[in-house]
Amino acid sequence: MKIGVIGLGTVGFGVVDILSKEKDRLAKAIQEEVVLKYACGLEEIELPEGILYTKDYKEVVNDPEVDVVVELIGGTTIAKSIILESIYNKKHVVTANKALLAHDGKEIFKAAKENNVHIFYEASVGGGIPVLVSQKESFIANNTLEIAGILNGTTNFILSLMEKDNLSFEEALQIASDLGYVEANPALDLDGVDAAHKIAILAMNGFETYAPFDDIQPSGIRNVTKLDMDIAFKLGYRIKLIAQAKLVPGGIGIDVGATLVSLESLVANVMGSYNVVEINGDYVNDIVYYGRGAGRHVTASAVVSDIMKTVQERRWNHDYKEGTKVFPITLSKYYIRSSSVLPIEFLEYYSEKDNHVYIVDEIELSKLKQKLEGFEYVLFKVRG
Ligand code: HSE
Repeated sequence: MKIGVIGLGTVGFGVVDILSKEKDRLAKAIQEEVVLKYACGLEEIELPEGILYTKDYKEVVNDPEVDVVVELIGGTTIAKSIILESIYNKKHVVTANKALLAHDGKEIFKAAKENNVHIFYEASVGGGIPVLVSQKESFIANNTLEIAGILNGTTNFILSLMEKDNLSFEEALQIASDLGYVEANPALDLDGVDAAHKIAILAMNGFETYAPFDDIQPSGIRNVTKLDMDIAFKLGYRIKLIAQAKLVPGGIGIDVGATLVSLESLVANVMGSYNVVEINGDYVNDIVYYGRGAGRHVTASAVVSDIMKTVQERRWNHDYKEGTKVFPITLSKYYIRSSSVLPIEFLEYYSEKDNHVYIVDEIELSKLKQKLEGFEYVLFKVRG
């Protein structure tokens, strides 16, 4: 089998490296030699012998010898052309492109089906964690009821470093960037959009439905201050960027936002660039997937596993329901901090200097906001 890798950034380099180092073992495992024919990128990197470098992706997708195109440039423009042109040329596709699949998954999966080729995208969610293969294969007996977790390595890394090493937000972001965790546009990580892409893909597979991505309203970690992290800790919580999807009346609820989680929970103890995905299925109940969510070889490991799946002729069906509505999940417990004493019922109250902090029981956000009208406050969801 011959493949072409398009995109020689952090992950692309990792894929070339693993494929060349593990060549013999992989060939034995799948009983076929995987030949990396092309490495395509804007800038040439040092390549092992025998791999053709090109700047022109068309050379790869139009070569009749290429069986699998590995798209690793990301984004929703050229990457989409690369994937669709590969599919029309009857090539299998492997991609890590969460943004593209979250926005245009329906069109891409339909094109793949019509052209009788496979598309695998394990690296798009949870870095090296084999969560999509589990959803599509091991979990198949179940109807998914809820999916939740930490799906962005960058923001989890930043929050962890701010807490453990007392670093500033900017210092932690710089380290995450040096380690290759951060998107080309860091706002995607920091504003919860990357986590939204990933929960949208998990929700699509879990609830077997195409949900319009633009209906999701993510928020990120920019509003998380050290003060709130410290107060949350004193009250027995840690603040994490939590992505959640569940069935709600009339559609699916999808939410991404900074959330307080009990220090005793598993999720609260997922630190650094690690991700966690909890899936609740009606037969198996709760399953938890945990591992590194970002990084060169971590993500490349998932890409290589997908390349192997194309040879093994695995099939992931994507004939999903259309027209499903997406709603924010607004019924929750909440943490509120204000400089005023607030006229609300609460489960817990704490005060420190000029800060009054309340944990309130499950309530609709609109109702809570009505009660808080006229007051200045900071508000986060509380999970569990
Ligand atoms: N920027 C992403 C993250 C990379 O931090 O999780 C992996 O998808």
